[in-house]
Amino acid sequence: LIHLLTTEGLPKRILTQILDRAAEYVAAGEAGNKKFATLAGRSVFNLFFENSTRTRTTFEIAAKRLSADVTSLNIQASSTAKGETLLDTIHNLEAMGADLFVVRHAQSGAAHLIAQHVQPGIAVVNAGDGRHAHPTQALLDMYTIRHFKGDFTKLRVAIVGDILHSRVARSDIHALTTLGCPEVRVIGPKTLIPTGMESLGAHVYHDMAEGLKDVDVVIMLRLQNERMSGAFLPSTHEFFKYYGLTPEKLALAKPDAIVMHPGPMNRGVEIDSAVADGAQAVILPQVTFGIAVRTAVMAIVSENQRGRGAQA
Ligand code: CP
Repeated sequence: LIHLLTTEGLPKRILTQILDRAAEYVAAGEAGNKKFATLAGRSVFNLFFENSTRTRTTFEIAAKRLSADVTSLNIQASSTAKGETLLDTIHNLEAMGADLFVVRHAQSGAAHLIAQHVQPGIAVVNAGDGRHAHPTQALLDMYTIRHFKGDFTKLRVAIVGDILHSRVARSDIHALTTLGCPEVRVIGPKTLIPTGMESLGAHVYHDMAEGLKDVDVVIMLRLQNERMSGAFLPSTHEFFKYYGLTPEKLALAKPDAIVMHPGPMNRGVEIDSAVADGAQAVILPQVTFGIAVRTAVMAIVSENQRGRGAQA
């Protein structure tokens, strides 16, 4: 693994390696050891062309834990606004000594494009590209599920809401099926579920009562309004009525089911506050685990890049 661009096609061995390494960082943090020299003298550039609270901040914390020099470019105030292309921006940051780019972009494929054009030795980590992939979100989701539920091979997982526009849903489905989860369900209205879900290994439900029955994990997604145009835009009131997770709907899942959400949440649209703040929600632990998972990803891709350099 020299870049992390998607969970699609990543073998179980690599997913597990990342989760195990993240577990080491969690344990080290609990023992009071939060700082490592792994990226000392290395420059990490956070490039967020789309808004972010959790991903951007936890990548920054993770890079600092690895002792990297971190620069988070303020894209709104950068020369992108003057028409500079993505690749010209990247090449200029390479000229400043970048070693690792963390990239979020509204265009699907942006991180792949950058990875194809960076100099050897520079790693690219996809922090979310369009509706395509959000691999570190999927990895922190897998970490959270493993932490609370253990063995993937005994789990029923439901992903609920706007699957069509969700990079998280796609990345989660790839990771869950690779890790051996026998039953992944997607639940949502017909207009918000893309074709081809069955070929990815996910079963489609349009009814919450059927889809949530006996599941171990519920992953709620928000309506990604920024990626929708007129025909797809549901009424939030209607959406909540049929697909919003209330305590009554959650009662259809297993009694010990956990509730996850990548954030940001829209309370009263896809999730009721009584669930979001309830005993079964593990939404804030997801955020905390995100630091260790992103620390693991940056450490592993950097070590592998260095390994390649040593072999060359
Ligand atoms: N889950 C997630 O990607 O959140 P942010 O958009 O706040 O980074």
